Amino acid sequence: MRYEVDFLVLGSGIAGLSFALKVAEKGKVCILTKDDASESSTKYAQGGIAAVMYHPDSYEKHIQDTLIAGAGICDEKAVRITITESTERVKELILWGTNFDKKSSGAYDLAREGGHSEFRILHHQDNTGSEIERALLEKAKAHPNITIKEKQYAVDLITQHHLGEEVNRHRKDIECYGAYVLNQLDNSIDTYLAKFTLLATGGNGNVYSTTTNPIVATGDGQAMVHRAKGHLADMEFVQFHPTSLYNPLEKPSFLITEAMRGAGGILKTIDGNPFMSKYDKRESLAPRDIVARAIDHEMKVRGDDHVYLDCRAIEKTEIMNHFPNIYAKCLEIGVNITKDMIPVVPAAHYSCGGVVVDENAQTTINNLYSSGECARTGLHGANRLASNSLLEALVFSHRGALDCLNKINDVKFCKEVPDWNAEGMVLNEEMVLISQSVKELQQIMSNYVGIVRSDLRLKRAFNRLELIYKETEAIYNRSVLIPKLCELRNLIANSYLIIKMAMERKESVGLHYLVNY
Ligand code: FAD
Ligand code: SIN
Repeated sequence: MRYEVDFLVLGSGIAGLSFALKVAEKGKVCILTKDDASESSTKYAQGGIAAVMYHPDSYEKHIQDTLIAGAGICDEKAVRITITESTERVKELILWGTNFDKKSSGAYDLAREGGHSEFRILHHQDNTGSEIERALLEKAKAHPNITIKEKQYAVDLITQHHLGEEVNRHRKDIECYGAYVLNQLDNSIDTYLAKFTLLATGGNGNVYSTTTNPIVATGDGQAMVHRAKGHLADMEFVQFHPTSLYNPLEKPSFLITEAMRGAGGILKTIDGNPFMSKYDKRESLAPRDIVARAIDHEMKVRGDDHVYLDCRAIEKTEIMNHFPNIYAKCLEIGVNITKDMIPVVPAAHYSCGGVVVDENAQTTINNLYSSGECARTGLHGANRLASNSLLEALVFSHRGALDCLNKINDVKFCKEVPDWNAEGMVLNEEMVLISQSVKELQQIMSNYVGIVRSDLRLKRAFNRLELIYKETEAIYNRSVLIPKLCELRNLIANSYLIIKMAMERKESVGLHYLVNY
């Protein structure tokens, strides 16, 4: 099938939905999403969304906290834009129907997380993301100009390459005409022509074996832009969350929000001794890169499988009001967090890098915008400050939407785009070839490109990945497309970009820690 839509939105998390709600005022919007509409990292966000709400907090304090966490390589302009627009965007989110917890005084009950000098995290208990996703989805579904289609897997962006032209990374005039999309309901590949495309496909946590990310987070958008010859940056900065629940058979790993440390939770070794003072004067509330490295170090030196988060000093009413889901989840595995310490380990959590965008969310490919975790705005630098990502998605989707609305009268559909050619392709029946390669890739990335890296480990990862790449391309070139195969290709592209950028950065900074430097 061929479709024409003014705005094509790939992804139905906070970035895609908030963009759609804005541009829908001036055109037809089609949101495509590869699973159920609500399945996204957004839905699993726990801690909340950072915004400057009340005195004594100030934009300048939040800006400085973000710059410090980013270890000196944030784009200060992106930081200032995001933080100074935080209050307005969050108020809009509330107007759209999101409920954040309040105190009995009626003021928002703000939490604090690592690296924040003030209490500034708006939250809905410990499941803020699911409340945001609920409100946005309800609003988008009710909008007459928005169509949401589930089980639609975006395979590739359409550019001049598909018209037979040579497209290389140096060209400044690459245009995006829409996307080829695998309709999982009938296995056809549809052509979506769009005036503007927003890439809001989220993170790539599944390049690692242990991650807090849902299974949809396979870096599809980053890989599509790489293939379309757009620019990506900062991919080496992978954030490991210090505290995911240690429960080895569970995938994805269940997060224990940093807000628990903000409320008084303390990290301890298995024998019950606090250890963070050895690493940072902010102790358990130091920025994530420091805490995750400290835990990794303690586990390696002591030979332990996990450390503990001791939340027993937090009042029971606070646990029940603010962290009811974590309480219930831990109880399921026999841990009563009001009496027992919680076993925790670091897990891959967030990709700070991604598709390079400017202050209006415009990528290096014309008419292609990107927002949310797949985009690289420059806000995070070498390490993201907790709870800044939901905010970043709102701010850049808003700015991208305004930019598209300004330009819409100047953009036409490209009718010459051919349909997808699947001639001569056969059904690949050996799923094990794909599933085993995914596992191997995750092992390589976890063992050699994790929290602590070395030149030697990176080189080894690069060589091992090359073999998986060659085998997968051979399968891809003879197979009918299925999402698992496309995802494997995309995981390989993301791993390649992470390793390559890690090898190019000859220093230890923020989340990129090399024993050689
Ligand atoms: P997502 O919400 O991940 O949405 C991506 C969408 O794209 C999904 O709908 C997916 O199905 C779709 N998609 C992907 N590939 C394709 C494709 N090929 N074709 C079609 N559709 C596709 N951040 C905070 O600021 N505060 C927090 O408290 C917080 N807690 C977190 C807790 C957890 C457990 C996790 C995993 C993350 C947390 N984060 C938090 C990070 C934050 O949730 C994410 O960065 C943010 O939600 C990303 O939003 P997004 O819209 O960019 O992507
Ligand atoms: C958390 O709740 O600890 C996650 C917050 C985040 O990733 O920003």
